[in-house]
Amino acid sequence: MDFSEKYKKKEFHWGTEPNRAVVSLLEHMNSGEVLDIGIGEGKNAFFLATKGFNVEGIDNSNEGLDKVKKLAESNNVSIKTNCINIRDFKFRKKYNLIMSTSTLHYLPKKESCKIIRKIKKFTKNSGLNLITVFTKDVPDYSPEMEKKFGLDLFEKEELKNLYQDWELVKYAEKTILDKSHGDPHYHTIALLIAKKVV
Ligand SMILES: C[S@@+](CC[C@H](N)C(=O)[O-])C[C@H]1O[C@@H](n2cnc3c(N)ncnc32)[C@H](O)[C@@H]1O
Repeated sequence: MDFSEKYKKKEFHWGTEPNRAVVSLLEHMNSGEVLDIGIGEGKNAFFLATKGFNVEGIDNSNEGLDKVKKLAESNNVSIKTNCINIRDFKFRKKYNLIMSTSTLHYLPKKESCKIIRKIKKFTKNSGLNLITVFTKDVPDYSPEMEKKFGLDLFEKEELKNLYQDWELVKYAEKTILDKSHGDPHYHTIALLIAKKVV
């Protein structure tokens, strides 16, 4: 899915307020190395950078990454960006937190599961993962809809099952009515925050 046309506009397509779940991470950590996979325009990465985290993010949209850089620079914080397809990203170090919000369902399931395995491997001991993905458990689900929007949606509980060997800090699946673009439509979002305990 290419979001570049949306990101070319001056306004922030996804806004600049962080997800509530990202804000809640401050209850568990207050510093460290963060990787944001599918950083978009950077609302979540920016929030953590302002709180003193050392943040980097990847995305395949240069237009989104330009906005991340401008948002960071105009607020005197630093966010390292890398324009790359997620499937080509080489992990070179371990992170205290790896997050990916509303992104992994754009990859074929085989690839998103492979990325999640890598995300887990490259998280430091006692580090956290925060992941949100859309699931199939949505009122207007059809395979045609999935194909039309280039999605490979997760099954109910599928994300949670990938973290059976980690401590679950939070897991929820919630259906929301999205009126922010196009015709009003539903998303069911699985949200996971998990801690690596080895
Ligand atoms: C729905 S947006 C979410 C952005 C951000 N995480 C947020 O919550 O505001 C999904 C992002 O994933 C990026 N993306 C999707 N597939 C990608 C891929 N295969 N490689 C790199 N980035 C990808 C898109 O460019 C887009 O910025």
